[in-house]
Amino acid sequence: MARLVFVALVAIAVAASGLLGYLIVEVFRGGENGAVIGQAQVGGPFELVDGEGRTVTDEEFRGEYMLVYFGYTYCPDVCPTELQNMSRALELLGEEAEAVRPVFITVDPERDTPEVIESYVENFHPRMVGLTGSPEQIEKAAKSYRVYYKKAESGSASEYLMDHTSIVYLMGREGEFLRHFGYGTSPEDMAQGIRSYL
Ligand code: NI
Repeated sequence: MARLVFVALVAIAVAASGLLGYLIVEVFRGGENGAVIGQAQVGGPFELVDGEGRTVTDEEFRGEYMLVYFGYTYCPDVCPTELQNMSRALELLGEEAEAVRPVFITVDPERDTPEVIESYVENFHPRMVGLTGSPEQIEKAAKSYRVYYKKAESGSASEYLMDHTSIVYLMGREGEFLRHFGYGTSPEDMAQGIRSYL
């Protein structure tokens, strides 16, 4: 008897964790169902500063798809890799990519001044927009995209690393969340994922 109860409990536990796993996957999956759930949660209005020191809001990108990535220019490897992947994905899309605006938003506004970010994004894609802002502006934008970031404990005042979420977001022409690409998504997969929305 005890054995039967145990088996039943295990079955319930497995079913419950399966359901939980399914729900988590649905929220983070992107794509059809994920988009419906994610739409209200990811992205939204922002006010930031571009590489020329102009104030820029999300409204400026209406009518374009946005491929958004948060990071910082001093990042030793993760950010450059992701930005290269984004750039390569757009190359693979050819002319279709003209509808897509790659956007890099810094999580390190202290060091990433408009000048710094402007010269950085030029290394990756001719149409990439680099955005910075006040710490408050950055905090608000990151929060709406559910991006976590924090200055690493070690390091000095000028030389430090930032811990940060590494996710590429695809936003639609009205600024709505379409899907995300997890860290390490290949340019080929990213291009294919973007193309399905164009
Ligand atoms: Ni980084």
